[in-house]
Amino acid sequence: MVAQIIDGKLFSRKLRDQVAEHVNALKKENNVTPGLAVVLVGEDPASQVYVRSKGKQTIEAGMNSYEHRLSENTSEEDLLELVNRLNDDNEVHGILVQLPLPEHINEDAVINAIDPVKDVDGFHISNVGLLATGQNSMVPCTPLGCLLMLKDLHGSLSGMDAVIIGRSNIVGKPMAQLLLSESCTVTITHSKTKNLEEMVGRADIIIAAVGRPEMVKGDWIKPGATLIDVGINRVEGNDGGKRLVGDAEFSSCSEIAGAITPVPGGVGPMTIACLLVNTLVACCRKHKLAEPYIIPN
Ligand code: GUN
Repeated sequence: MVAQIIDGKLFSRKLRDQVAEHVNALKKENNVTPGLAVVLVGEDPASQVYVRSKGKQTIEAGMNSYEHRLSENTSEEDLLELVNRLNDDNEVHGILVQLPLPEHINEDAVINAIDPVKDVDGFHISNVGLLATGQNSMVPCTPLGCLLMLKDLHGSLSGMDAVIIGRSNIVGKPMAQLLLSESCTVTITHSKTKNLEEMVGRADIIIAAVGRPEMVKGDWIKPGATLIDVGINRVEGNDGGKRLVGDAEFSSCSEIAGAITPVPGGVGPMTIACLLVNTLVACCRKHKLAEPYIIPN
């Protein structure tokens, strides 16, 4: 079998077009422009690339983008003060503090200082609790992007066996909650899991979010399974240059899977598109306007 390639670039473009249409209508009919504030502390090169991309796509969707770049040695107190100012700013509907933060800053304290209604990452403890109990929450962007692609491909996911590799707060745990809500049978695996290959081999849906380059091999997976690869790993290619690979070995997995996301061009572009969706949702909630239909409840 040769897998269907799930085109995250194309899907995310459609999603961003839908968002832009909604934003346009909000501006015309309600005189409201959604605004996203992104805070970057320090000089991490990968974070700088992400933040630049977020700002660019926010503006392309017709929203206001507010970037706050702070030095590496910013104190936790100063960062919390900025978060509080953004919480009080009526022009700002969504707040994202880029992770990781420098070691001297307590990440949990900063995330939990964000107004949960503006927490477009869905990392605040209130949103985590709302998601876990099936209530209306902000849903973390990467798992939301994965879910939208899965539902587009399969329609109903009810009764499917889903195996998640990785237990992070950003991807693994919220992904499990979302798939449970879709009536999947969910297994979360991680670095200490015994018989990992055997577990992965039972899955109809595999979410690889472990951060280990090309760890999942084609002979691990059930023929016809859907493989969503969240990994973005920079490795040295045969020619000595750098190339991006996922957490699954694409060449062997794409021979066995029924459908697979490529790296790059799979999950990555969906994450930013979902951030724009969440910003639009936050704006609609704030102004008590109908929410866009793109978000599954
Ligand atoms: N760093 C890596 N992924 C993310 C994300 O989804 N949100 C934030 N805020 N930081 C990140």
